[in-house]
Amino acid sequence: MDKILVLDFGGQYNQLIARRVREQHVYAEIRSFRAPLGEIRGEGYRGVIFTGGPNSVYDPAAPRCDREVLHLGIPVLGICYGCQLMAHLEGGEVASAGSVSEYGKTELCRAESALFEGVPEKSVCWMSHTDYVKRVPDGFRVIGTTEHCPAAAIADESRNLWGVQFHPEVMHTEFGREILRNFLFGICGCAADWTMEDFVNASVCRYKEELAGKRVLCALSGGVDSSVAAVLMHRAVGDRLTCVFVDHGLLRKDEGDLVERTFREKFNMNLIRVNAGERFLSKLAGVTEPERKRKIIGEEFIRVFEDEARKIGHVHVLVQGTIYPDVVESGVGDAAAIKSHHNVGGLPSVVDFDEIVEPLRTLFKDEVRAAGLELGIPYDLVWRQPFPGPGLAIRVLGEVTEEKLAVLRECDAIFREEIAAAGLERTTKQYFAVLTDTRTVGVMGDARTYGCTVALRAVDTDDFMTADWSRLPYEVLAKASNRITNEVRSVSRVVYDITSKPPATVEWE
Ligand code: XMP
Repeated sequence: MDKILVLDFGGQYNQLIARRVREQHVYAEIRSFRAPLGEIRGEGYRGVIFTGGPNSVYDPAAPRCDREVLHLGIPVLGICYGCQLMAHLEGGEVASAGSVSEYGKTELCRAESALFEGVPEKSVCWMSHTDYVKRVPDGFRVIGTTEHCPAAAIADESRNLWGVQFHPEVMHTEFGREILRNFLFGICGCAADWTMEDFVNASVCRYKEELAGKRVLCALSGGVDSSVAAVLMHRAVGDRLTCVFVDHGLLRKDEGDLVERTFREKFNMNLIRVNAGERFLSKLAGVTEPERKRKIIGEEFIRVFEDEARKIGHVHVLVQGTIYPDVVESGVGDAAAIKSHHNVGGLPSVVDFDEIVEPLRTLFKDEVRAAGLELGIPYDLVWRQPFPGPGLAIRVLGEVTEEKLAVLRECDAIFREEIAAAGLERTTKQYFAVLTDTRTVGVMGDARTYGCTVALRAVDTDDFMTADWSRLPYEVLAKASNRITNEVRSVSRVVYDITSKPPATVEWE
C-alpha cells in the first residue's frame, strides 16, 4: 500500500489535506513536523506534503523539520508555509508580503509542468498568506504566478521538490483536486489502491499481535465512534474484550435496546448493559440549569462506569473511540496527547488499566462510518445522526422527569419517522424534537386544552461549528405537526425553530 506523509506545521487545513489524499484512495498519515528523519525514511512513504502553518519562517519559534527530508529522494509538495519553508531551507528568500498580502480567491497563471497537467493556463486559486517566496532557491523555477505573488508555485523538477503558495486542498481552488492528483499519481507514482477494507484488516492484524493475551475494556455509548472502535477491537481480541454500555435512561425511543441487540446478538460480544436510568434521574431531580445537568450526567457516567469496572477488576487496555477531529487542531507538538487525556473525562484515574488504545484516531467521521459498514455494523447504526452525550436531558427544558422524557421520545420518534419517510435522513444533518417548558392553550374537539409546546429542530451543517436551519418542505413539517398533536396527547402546539448557529446553538440547552 502506498502511503503519503502529511507533515504538519500547524496549519488549519492539515486534516483536510490528508482527507483529500485519502479521497484519491491513497493512504495519508499526518505527523508532527518533529517526526524524526530516521522514522520518515523507514516508513517507505511515496511522497511528503508539508502543510501550511501560522508562522513566518523567520520567526525563531517557527516549526521546522530536518532539512534532509528534502533530500531523501522522496517527492515533496510544500503548501503555503510549507512552500516558504522549502524555499527557505534550500537557500531561497522569503519576505513579508506587507500590504499586498493575498487572501481569498485569486487568479493563478501557471506554466507547463507535471504539477499542472490538465489545469488551464488561468484558473482560480485560494490564497491566505502574509509572507511569500521573494527569491527561489538555486535549481528551482517559477511555475505559477498571481498578481501579487511572483512565485505562487515553484519547482525543482530534477529533485521532485514542488511548492505552492496557495491551498490546493480547499474547494475554492478550482483545480485543486487535479493538482493533488498530479502530485500523487504523476509525480509520486502512487497506486490508488487504499480502501477502508485495508484499514480495517491492517488494524485488526496489528491489534491481534500487539494485544495478544491482554484483557480489553471499552465504554460503549452506542454512538458511532465507540461502536466502530468496539467492533474493530472485538475482531482483533474476541472474547478478551468486555464492553460496558451505560444506559443513562436519556436515550431516544428504543435506542438502548437497538444498541444491546446489535452488539450482543449480531456480534456476540461480551456486553454489560447497565440500566442506570433511575440513578441518573434521581441525581437530576429538581435541576433546571443546563450546565448543571451536563455536569451531573458526565460525573454520574463516570461513577457508573467505575462501579462496573471495579467488578471486572484489572484490565490491560482501555479502548477509546477518539477520532481525528477530536485530536486538537494544531497537531503541532504534543497537542494530540493532551486531548486524548482530556477525552477520557476522568476515567483513567478510577479504572485500573495499563494503556489506552484509540484505533480510530487517524480517521475522519465519514471514514469511521465507512469502517463501520466494512465491519458489518448495520447501516442504521452507522449513519445515525449525532446525539449529545447528556442525551434527552438537554432537550427537556427545565427539570427532567420520566413523564417528560416519555412525551419527548414519542414526539422525536414521529419527527424522525417523517424525515425518513421524506428521504431526508442523509441530507438533514441533525433533527430532533425539544420539549419546552411552555404550556399553551389549544382546542381539541369542543374542549379547551392546555398542553405542552414541542419544538422541532433540523439543521444543515458541515462541521456543527456553524449551522443553518433546514428548509424542510412544508408538507413534512405539516405531517409531523399533525401526527404529534394527534398521537401525543399532552402536546397542544408544535413550533419549528428557524434560528441558525450562530447566534443560536444546535441544542436548546
Ligand atoms: P451545539 O448545541 O453546541 O451542538 O451547537 C453542536 C453539536 O454538538 C452536539 N452536542 C454535544 N455532544 N456532548 C456531546 O457529545 C454534549 O454535551 C453536547 N452538546 C452538544 C450537538 O448535538 C450538535 O451535534
